[in-house]
Amino acid sequence: MRSPPPNRYRTAWAGDLRPGDVGADVRVAGWVHRRRDHGGLIFIDLRDRTGLLQLVFRPEEAPDAHAAAHGLRSEDVITAAGSLSPREEGTVNRGMSTGEVELSVTEMELLADSETPPFQIDEDTPVEEELRLRYRYLDLRRDQMRSAMELRGAITHTMRRHLHDQGFLEIETPILTRSTPEGARDYLVPSRLQRGSWYALPQSPQLFKQLLMVAGYERYFQIARCFRDEDFRADRQPEFTQLDVEMSFVEEDDVMRVCDQLLGAVLAVAGVEVSLPLERMAYDEVMLRYGTDRPDRRIGMDIHDLGAAFAGSEFKVFTSALASGGVVRGFRANGDFSRARLDELTERAKELGAKGLVWAVVESDGWRSPIAKFLSTEETADAGAELQAGEGDTLFIVADEERVAARVLGRLRIEVAGPPSGHDLFWVTDFPMFEWSDEESRWDALHHPFTAPQGDLDADPGTWRSRAYDVVMDGLEIGGGSIRIDRPDVQRKVFDALALSSEEATRRFGFLLEALRYGAPPHGGIAFGLDRVVALLGGRDSIRQVIAFPKTASGSDPMTGAPAPVGETQLRELGIRPSGAGSEGRA
Ligand code: AMO
Ligand code: AMP
Repeated sequence: MRSPPPNRYRTAWAGDLRPGDVGADVRVAGWVHRRRDHGGLIFIDLRDRTGLLQLVFRPEEAPDAHAAAHGLRSEDVITAAGSLSPREEGTVNRGMSTGEVELSVTEMELLADSETPPFQIDEDTPVEEELRLRYRYLDLRRDQMRSAMELRGAITHTMRRHLHDQGFLEIETPILTRSTPEGARDYLVPSRLQRGSWYALPQSPQLFKQLLMVAGYERYFQIARCFRDEDFRADRQPEFTQLDVEMSFVEEDDVMRVCDQLLGAVLAVAGVEVSLPLERMAYDEVMLRYGTDRPDRRIGMDIHDLGAAFAGSEFKVFTSALASGGVVRGFRANGDFSRARLDELTERAKELGAKGLVWAVVESDGWRSPIAKFLSTEETADAGAELQAGEGDTLFIVADEERVAARVLGRLRIEVAGPPSGHDLFWVTDFPMFEWSDEESRWDALHHPFTAPQGDLDADPGTWRSRAYDVVMDGLEIGGGSIRIDRPDVQRKVFDALALSSEEATRRFGFLLEALRYGAPPHGGIAFGLDRVVALLGGRDSIRQVIAFPKTASGSDPMTGAPAPVGETQLRELGIRPSGAGSEGRA
């Protein structure tokens, strides 16, 4: 960090001092990280944002400072001045960036006392998350949080600089707005001035960024907060941050190329190199090979179709699955499996919805498998060739409806994999436009309803494809976008397919439909989940570890106590009857 402008508290950053500064008069400020009292000498590791510096208090050289240092406790705030000295032979600490020097303190002032913190700041010992969040300001002092915040800051900065350099304009869009259709539940905010009406917090800036394209801004971006009332997981928060991007006069390839460059710059921040352009894989192939549209490709073990190999099999499970339009698929696993583990995996497959699991170990004289006696040499040879299996390999095979086989094998693949290393990023393209919702007996947009469809729009919506694309990193969807609909008649057709009536569409998205009639350019864009990108690059297993003030799994903040009940007066002002906290309707 650039040197601080010298003032009453400090003339240098503690973590920046090096042997070249020896002899200088220096003043530093920060927190007492650690204190060691060696009878005569007192050592304090002082911490500021840049790191640690050892301070030495010598009774004979600075009796007042030494006396004061006696009373210091962890996390007290001090400013101290002295001269920078080299450490004595044998006391150099190579594990510390300032480990070759120390400050011989001549003067010290206590600026603030600290109570004993509820957990150790100076150690990375595991602390219960609830407690960390309750005292987040202390947790944020710990090294792991500080490095996460620094990485996050560096990544956001790189995104801004990169996009700015590419001619993108950063524009903010409203937080108090109307519902956006990303498929989650909205957070609502009651209007005081218009009783009975509600704002919705944006699930994304989707509609506004499209309006900015209609408005002629051509290249927009925003680091945008999004709000979605859904069930939280390690990679989901009720409020999270997107890098939101939109461009005009573009097709898929244009957007993806811009993103490739952007991702290259972002990954470089964490020292990660990928070869660009990122590989692109069509949805159907991804689903076949990995059983999910956000696969972790690092673990290998691709799934293969074995329908051809087993088309004439005596094993009825295979042939009846094929006869009823299903599939037989399998993969070659890395590693050895005990009989107990194979039984466990068979149970697991059933839990996941399969009717069973065929396992087979390739041996010199054929397959060892519970169903070996049903399989001909030709069948096992064909299947083995498809899976590129050799002696000693273990194979897993499922026969079922395509959807079930894909899902079950996709999950088993992950469960038998060892911990992957490195990073893998690629594009998934050519998604289906819709997926069938059994719950609502209608089509649902796989991306969102403003995504441009392709294919024969007079045919069954189940056959339509979309012009959407996702970026998958290490088994997580880190970004998704699409080319948008820019014609009202196409938008109408999509709403029809979604069983959204004209009235409903006009009520919810009338402003966008209207805008599309005033000269909408072809446009498209994408949004990246910033929290997910930072978590993956920082090696954290939850996005809560890269958000300064996240929510717990139940959506609360143990520090502020949010969400919290509000007073009756406040509710009445909003026209909400106090009983049932608003759920009982409005006055
Ligand atoms: P989508 O809904 O796919 O697209 O969101 C884009 C990216 O945001 C991240 N993300 C989340 N991260 C943390 N917590 C959540 N609850 C959460 N939900 C999503 C994911 C995801 O890939 N408007 C479109 C984008 C577009 O079409 O341009 C949109 O929001 O990494
Ligand atoms: P069964 O005939 O039910 O005893 O099954 C014989 C073997 O085939 C067992 O190992 C089952 O786990 C397996 N199996 C049964 N149904 C399927 C299926 N749909 N896909 C893959 N394996 C199956």
